[in-house]
Amino acid sequence: MLPSNWSRLPPCILVLVLALQVAALTPARRSIDPLIHASRAEKRSINQNPDGSHFIWLPQQEYSGQTFYDGFFFFNYPDPTNGHVNYVNESYARERRLVYVEDDGTVIMKADQETWLPRGQFRDSIRIESYARFDGGLFILDLAKAPWGCGTWPAFWTVGNDWPWNGEIDIIEGVHDNQHNQVAWHTAPGCRLDPSANFTGNIADGGGYQHLDCNSFINHNAGCGATEWSRASYGPLFDEQGGGVFVMKWDENGIAVWSFFRAAVPRDIDDGTPNPSEWGPPSAVLSSSMCDIRRFFKNHAIIFDITFCGDWAGNSYATSGCPGTCDERLMDPNNFVEDTSLRNGREPQLRVAWAGF
Ligand SMILES: *[C@@H]1O[C@H](CO)[C@@H](O)[C@H](O)[C@H]1NC(C)=O
Ligand SMILES: *[C@@H]1O[C@H](CO)[C@@H](O)[C@H](O)[C@H]1NC(C)=O
Repeated sequence: MLPSNWSRLPPCILVLVLALQVAALTPARRSIDPLIHASRAEKRSINQNPDGSHFIWLPQQEYSGQTFYDGFFFFNYPDPTNGHVNYVNESYARERRLVYVEDDGTVIMKADQETWLPRGQFRDSIRIESYARFDGGLFILDLAKAPWGCGTWPAFWTVGNDWPWNGEIDIIEGVHDNQHNQVAWHTAPGCRLDPSANFTGNIADGGGYQHLDCNSFINHNAGCGATEWSRASYGPLFDEQGGGVFVMKWDENGIAVWSFFRAAVPRDIDDGTPNPSEWGPPSAVLSSSMCDIRRFFKNHAIIFDITFCGDWAGNSYATSGCPGTCDERLMDPNNFVEDTSLRNGREPQLRVAWAGF
């Protein structure tokens, strides 16, 4: 279903745009790529076609309310990031109410918040992946709350098959009591973050170097990325003021992420007519100036997960200021009471639009 308010085009143009979209999805699109890239070199703006006209974002996929989980597969394998987690299957997740949808349409996902565990045992949690795959688009997520706390490592991200050859885009990610969301990209060798691009976050900095090379095979897979300046982009302050909206825009100009705490959500997003050119610079952007976006990012699924300890939350635990060890922290269910909660507002909770580039 296409909510009609997503397009202000007259119907005949809409049909044309849809036809172009279909054309863009067929192999024939390869032949138009060089043209797009050539003109982009002269004029590069984050929300424009090569001729200077603005993209028009048409709805492609929506996930919301009672049918939200129909679009997702429950990943039920060991955590590839070595988290101390058991990712449970769908029937078990539903039975234990780790996932459910409230009567008002609020979508909840969470880890086991009830079981005391012996030391060293992993905590039950969920990781869900969209059946749909994407080669770009405008991804908009409306969250009322997101998990945080010592040992916790939640993420909202997208990834292609055969990691890292088709790229990974981390839209929301953090550990422990962080207050600043971290946006990151992980790729095959040859893609770099251009620090001169227009974004507000601070280039991630750790291990004595700036995270500018997205290559997953070096720097312990730190990737490239930026930390948001807003203290309300992750953790308790984000939750306290009613959450907010995260947007990832992926097109031939680059991959940009914005986050808006509740009071700052732009009207055009709430109204269902998102217009990125009105939002000011993003928190982070991977510009096409130093990374061939089409080559490094392909066929992504959307993923939500909540994991514990492991490669990031485990390895950073000792220096995080959190008490004891991560495995000790994991034993007490009272340490894991924060849910992921997708807000039921006027617009879909998660939607993807496509500009037909
Ligand atoms: C789901 O997981 C539960 C708990 O591990 C297991 O008992 C059950 O057999 C699984 N169901 C399916 C369909 O795999
Ligand atoms: C950065 O982006 C903002 C808003 O999108 C724009 O007003 C500003 O001119 C840009 N700055 C540069 C240096 O491109």
